[in-house]
Amino acid sequence: MDKLVIEGGKPLSGTIVIQGAKNAALPILAASMLVEGKVTIDHVPKLLDIDVMLNILRELGCRAEHEDETVTLDTSSLHSSHIPEALMRQMRSSIFLMGPLLARFGEVTIYQPGGCAIGERKIDLHLSGLRALGAQVDEEDSRIVCYAKRLKGAEIHLDFPSVGATENIMMAAVLAEGLTTISNAAREPEIQDLQHFLNSMGAKIFGAGTDTITIEGVEKLTPCRYQVIPDRIVTGTVMVAAAATRGQVTLLNTCPSHLTSLIHVLRRTGVQITVDDDIIKVGTAARPKAVDRIVTSPYPAFPTDLQSQIMVLLALADGVSVMKETIFEGRFKHVDELSRMGADIRVDLNSAFIRGVSRLYGATVEATDLRAGAALVIAGLAAQGKTVVEQVHHIDRGYDRIETMLGRLGARITRYSPVPNNQIVP
Ligand code: EPZ
Repeated sequence: MDKLVIEGGKPLSGTIVIQGAKNAALPILAASMLVEGKVTIDHVPKLLDIDVMLNILRELGCRAEHEDETVTLDTSSLHSSHIPEALMRQMRSSIFLMGPLLARFGEVTIYQPGGCAIGERKIDLHLSGLRALGAQVDEEDSRIVCYAKRLKGAEIHLDFPSVGATENIMMAAVLAEGLTTISNAAREPEIQDLQHFLNSMGAKIFGAGTDTITIEGVEKLTPCRYQVIPDRIVTGTVMVAAAATRGQVTLLNTCPSHLTSLIHVLRRTGVQITVDDDIIKVGTAARPKAVDRIVTSPYPAFPTDLQSQIMVLLALADGVSVMKETIFEGRFKHVDELSRMGADIRVDLNSAFIRGVSRLYGATVEATDLRAGAALVIAGLAAQGKTVVEQVHHIDRGYDRIETMLGRLGARITRYSPVPNNQIVP
């Protein structure tokens, strides 16, 4: 397993271009299975999760290439809608394939994706949505088999604005007969991107970005070429890293409007932020101020995917901050690791009480999940001394060579990969 060795204490400075959004690319790659022919998707970053999704598509018979940041798919040879359990287990987002494959083939077999480090990750809203569209859904142990000669439009209400369930139902409804409405839909920018992609192929979807989405079923779609939006979570991660190291960083190819809640919080800590079109500038030289209360909630509120990262900045703030995590029940696993670096954080149920300290100290820590791992990298950059972050594969799921990306801003990070007989070399 790779490790990252970080020499902390150096402010980040310089300019960086943000990668395409993982959480937009994954459903868009799945949605490509709705159409027969060649589809090209630009601005797709090289990530472990993208690799897994492309391997699943290849396993189903689709031709898939990923050169530089462009994915080219040929779905005309797609011949199966049975997703192998081993591949499902590698990445729970393969659940996004349910809707498109059911719509295209009239049947799909998947397996319970299971939970992960951050929570149980149920899929009941996905399944109830497909049943509402007329699918027969049989759950046999971990295997789930869905049938539908032709899906029929329906009125669907989500008990919780689930991102994945909203996307799965949207994709299933595109070729259904008649009108589908999804109320209490998730409003994330990645859902808007999915609507734009599908409508580029001839779908008739309206309302993404609001809590009510309507989909008029169409007979078929036409292949297209599409560019994915920038990754707002990677953008936010770099912004927090700039603030935590008291640096000056310019971020290009961003969507500032996707980060309103983070920008508001960073300004409350005293960080200077300027926005000009797709450019965000972040700078500070002072110790951050505490923020009395931050609550993670569905978009456009503060995103759960930036909770662990902002906690590092608050761990260095002057005062006490309170962070409440309302989306995932297991998303405080980074707290123990930050405490090993000198952070003073107490967790009580889904709230973390963060008493800022004047500095963090380098230590050997372990990434437990994608965003917790990114937070530990930020902590290592801000800490005095050397930090070793282990289990880096979690981070590689969502960040394209994070050490190279931050290295461009002056970060002193080296990746060590084990070779046979267990030596490690840079
Ligand atoms: C998406 O996951 C993102 N992943 C997550 O990003 C993100 O944290 C999450 O949305 C929330 O914003 C992708 O887009 C690939 P949900 P998803 O369905 O769709 C419960 C990252 O770091 N729920 O909105 O799985 C669920 O248990 C990842 O990039 C049900 O109860 O999120 C959770 O508590 C991590 N039943 C809450 O909803 C369901 O059927 C949010 O889940 C579905 C979800």
